[in-house]
Amino acid sequence: MRGLADRSFIVAGGATGIGAGTALRLAEEGACVVVGDINLAGAQATVEKIAKLGGAAIAVRFDLADEESVQALVDATITEFGAVHGLFNVGADLSPGNLGRDRTLLDTDLDVWSRTLDVNVVGFVRTSRAVLPHLLANGGGSIVNTSSGAAVSATDGQRPAYAASKSAVNALTRHTATNWGPQGVRCNAVMPGLVMGETQVEQNNVALQKMFLERVPTTRLGRPSDLAAAVAFLLSDDAEWINGQVWAIDGGANMRA
Ligand SMILES: NC(=O)c1ccc[n+]([C@@H]2O[C@H](COP(=O)([O-])OP(=O)(O)OC[C@H]3O[C@@H](n4cnc5c(N)ncnc54)[C@H](O)[C@@H]3O)[C@@H](O)[C@H]2O)c1
Repeated sequence: MRGLADRSFIVAGGATGIGAGTALRLAEEGACVVVGDINLAGAQATVEKIAKLGGAAIAVRFDLADEESVQALVDATITEFGAVHGLFNVGADLSPGNLGRDRTLLDTDLDVWSRTLDVNVVGFVRTSRAVLPHLLANGGGSIVNTSSGAAVSATDGQRPAYAASKSAVNALTRHTATNWGPQGVRCNAVMPGLVMGETQVEQNNVALQKMFLERVPTTRLGRPSDLAAAVAFLLSDDAEWINGQVWAIDGGANMRA
C-alpha cells in the first residue's frame, strides 16, 4: 500500500486483538509503529512479534482516560521516530468490571456509563487532540477510529453504554473529517462485526457467536487480520479520497446504504 513504508503510526490500544493485528500489518507494510496500551506487557509482546519480522516498533504504556499519558505517548513517538503520520484509535474498556456490568437502561449503574464514555469516546478525543497538531504540521495525515456494529444495531438488547459510546465515535469521526479535511487530514471509522481476538476468545460468549453467525452472509466469525487490512488501507495514501466514512467490516452482518 502507498504511503505506509517509513512513516510512523500510533496504534492506541495495540496489546491484543484488532490493535495488535493492525500493528503487525502496518509493520509488514514497512511502517514504524508505536504500540500504546494500558497493558504494557501486551504491547511489548506485540513489539516483539514485529521485531521478529524485522520491523521497527516501540511499546508505550498509556491510559485513554489520562490526558497526560496520552500526550506522553505522542511525545514518545516524536522522540523515537521524529514524526507521527497517522493514528489508529482502537482501545476500549471491555473489562468484565465495566462492559460486563453494561446490561440494560434500568440495571446499569451510572458509573458504567461514565467510564465507558470516558475511555471509549473521550479517550479518542484525547488522542486525536494530541496527534492533530502534528498531522497539520506535516500537511495532513490519517486517523482511523474503531466503532462497532453495536452503534447501528440492537444486538441482544444489552450494553446501551457501549453502543452509545460507539455511536459517538461515528459522530466524532465525521466531525474530525469535516473540520480538518481541507488541511489534508482524513478521518474514517471501522465498525467490526464479531472478531475473535484474545478478549473474545477468553470471554467465549457462545450465544453472541451463534447470533452473529445466523445473520452474517459471509459465514464465519471475524479475525483481527480482517480489520488490520482495512485499517492499513485507510491509513495509507491509497485511501486518499476516502474521508468521513464509517465502514462495516463484518462479513455483511450490517448492510447500510
Ligand atoms: N472483537 C470484536 O468482536 C469487536 C466488535 C466490535 C467492535 N470492537 C472494537 O474493536 C476494538 C478492539 O477490540 P478487540 O476485540 O481487539 O479487544 P481487545 O481487548 O483485544 O483490545 C482492546 C485493547 O484496548 C486496551 N485498553 C483497554 N482500556 C484501555 C485504556 N484505558 N487505555 C489504553 N488502552 C486500553 C486493552 O488493553 C486492549 O489491548 C475495541 O474498540 C472494540 O470496542 C471489537
